[in-house]
Parts: sequence; C-alpha cells; structure tokens
Amino acid sequence: MSYIPNGNRYDSMLYRRCGQSGLKLPAISLGLWQNFGDVDLRSNYEQTLYKAFDAGITHFDLANNYGPPPGSAEKNFGEILKSGLGQYRDEMIISTKAGYTMWDGPYGDWGSKKYLVSSLDQSLKRMGLEYVDIFYHHRPDPNTPIEESMMALDLIVRQGKALYAGISNYPPDLAKEAIDILRKLGTPCLIHQPKYSMLVRTPEEGLLDTLGQHGVGCIAFSPLAQGLLTDKYLNGIPSQSRATRHPSLKPDQITEDKISMIRKLNDMAAGRGQTLAQMAIAWLLRDERVTSVLIGASKVSQVEDAVGALNQLDFSDAELNAIDQILA
Ligand SMILES: NC(=O)c1ccc[n+]([C@@H]2O[C@H](COP(=O)([O-])OP(=O)(O)OC[C@H]3O[C@@H](n4cnc5c(N)ncnc54)[C@H](OP(=O)(O)O)[C@@H]3O)[C@@H](O)[C@H]2O)c1
Repeated sequence: MSYIPNGNRYDSMLYRRCGQSGLKLPAISLGLWQNFGDVDLRSNYEQTLYKAFDAGITHFDLANNYGPPPGSAEKNFGEILKSGLGQYRDEMIISTKAGYTMWDGPYGDWGSKKYLVSSLDQSLKRMGLEYVDIFYHHRPDPNTPIEESMMALDLIVRQGKALYAGISNYPPDLAKEAIDILRKLGTPCLIHQPKYSMLVRTPEEGLLDTLGQHGVGCIAFSPLAQGLLTDKYLNGIPSQSRATRHPSLKPDQITEDKISMIRKLNDMAAGRGQTLAQMAIAWLLRDERVTSVLIGASKVSQVEDAVGALNQLDFSDAELNAIDQILA
C-alpha cells in the first residue's frame, strides 16, 4: 500500500529560520549516514523515514559516501522517493555533500571543483533528483585553495543543481573565510554543519559566534554522541547497537567514567520528565543560533523519542549549571 502522510504533520514541529536566510528548517532533522545502506533492512528504514515525515521532519541529510557501501543511502533514499514519498518533494529539504573519499584517483576526494561538481552529478543520479536543496563541502581541504571549493559551490547553485550552499567541519577561521568568499561571489553561505553535543562542545569555542555574527545557520550533527547520550549503554553494550555495528563508535570509548556521567544526566532528564535523548536535543536547541539538531535513527521508536524533546525545551539556569558541572 502506498504511503499516506499524517495530515497533522506540521502541527507539533517547530521550524526555525536558518541564519538570515528565507529558509526554515525543522528543529529536528534526520540524517542518513547510517541505517539506510544496502546492509540495512529496507522495511525498517522506510518506516523510519515515513515516521519522520509524519512528525513534521522536513529535512533529510545525506552525503555521497553514506551507506555502506558508499552511495547506497542516496540510492535507497531515491527509491523511496520514487515509490511515493517524492510526491512531497516540494515539502522536503534534501541535502547532500562531498568532501570525503568517494572514488579512486585524484578526482574522487577533498575539495577541487572537479570533484565537487562530478560528485553532485552522481548524487543527483542516485537519488533521481533534478536538484538538492543544500549542497555542502563536507570538510576543508588543506591542499585546494578555499576560493576554488567555494567557486564550485557558487557554480553548482548558479547551475540550479542546488538551491543553497553549506559547509561542514570548517573551524571558525576557515568558516569565516568561506562565508566571506561566498558572499562576494553572490551565493551566501546558508548553513554550517558541525559536530555538537553535550559531549563535544567545540562549536562553543568561536564557531557559533562567527555563524551568529554572519547570519549563517547551524545544524548540529551527532547530537546524541552516536547513542551515548541515551539510556542505551547504561547497562552494558547491547548486541544491536552502533558500538557493535560500526567503527565510528568503539566499545573502548564507552568507559566507566563516561557511563557514570551519562547516568547522572539520565537521572536529571528523568527529573525533568523526559528521556536523556530528549534532554540532549533540547539542550542544543537552547541556543537560538542552532537552527536544527540532526539526529540519526536505527528505528521508528528513536524518531518518536527525539520529537518528544519538543514537549520540554526550557531549562532553568540552575539546570544548565548542573549540566555544566556534570560534564566538567
Ligand atoms: N558532516 C559530517 O561530517 C557528519 C558526520 C556524522 C554525521 N553527520 C550527519 O548527522 C546525522 C546524525 O549523526 P549520528 O547518527 O551520529 O547522530 P546521533 O543522533 O548522535 O546518533 C544516532 C544513533 O544513536 C542511537 N539512538 C538514536 N536515538 C536513540 C534513542 N532514543 N535511544 C537509544 N539509542 C538511540 C542509534 O544508534 P543504534 O540504535 O544503532 O545504536 C542512532 O543511529 C548523520 O546521519 C549525518 O546526516 C554528518
């Protein structure tokens, strides 16, 4: 049976303006880095996508290399669009990126114009799309002039293959340079995508200030620290978890000290009447400069848990101080 979306999908989601642009993003967005590859079960990830769209999550984030194997998340997403979800294309913000290793040889990695333009062409084919809404340079390239990477983003937008340009993993000084170059070229930088969570607070060391000053939005990736900021690992490492399935989260990163810290956060979240995942998301949204929180989900219930964060976004100063002390 074909998918029929929830008619009330826009009632409970919060939408925030992305920097000083005209574009609004949902406070919670869904990323397809993991769980949507050929190694994953289609019925499961398909339902996860539908649940997200039903909850008012209009933004789906991809990259050329998401899978595994690389490229398969875009292909699988494209198949789901084709099987029905694509009817709602004008209600969706779809992003993709290039910047990490994608194919062999000198043109399949980093930040040359050759790589960025060819990679987006491949992504569009895999997803069966004429354009993406946001195209990102995925990481800075120390060996390509930043002007060249930014000129590639400008070109792509002028060609109509992307509506907006973004950068990811750029430290504050390079982000400022990229923002300035893009503005001069006439394609303002819409958004920056940094890693940001209670456990990784680097964007607070200058990046958020830079983005705020220049009217650029921010979408925080790995907001749950890949699942650590949930109750998942409090009683050991479950067999079906990222820590057992993917090298990006290694069991030896889950130390006793970290678990004891997470337990305290979990108790605090319970005191606020929410789950730890919900508190971790709400905590990121406390800062208006954070446009959206970009979650991952391996099942429908994780999307449901995440959107529940919107029921309790407020923090007292005492709660924020207590969190700082736990994290210190
Ligand atoms: N720009 C970049 O360089 C970059 C890098 C990384 C990610 N990203 C983007 O950010 C997105 C999100 O990253 P992420 O997946 O690391 O985000 P995350 O939200 O920190 O982690 C998601 C993982 O945590 C676990 N989880 C989520 N909700 C849970 C819940 N309620 N209870 C228990 N476990 C839960 C699930 O893993 P299991 O159930 O499998 O354990 C899920 O796959 C990516 O898909 C991608 O779009 C971008």
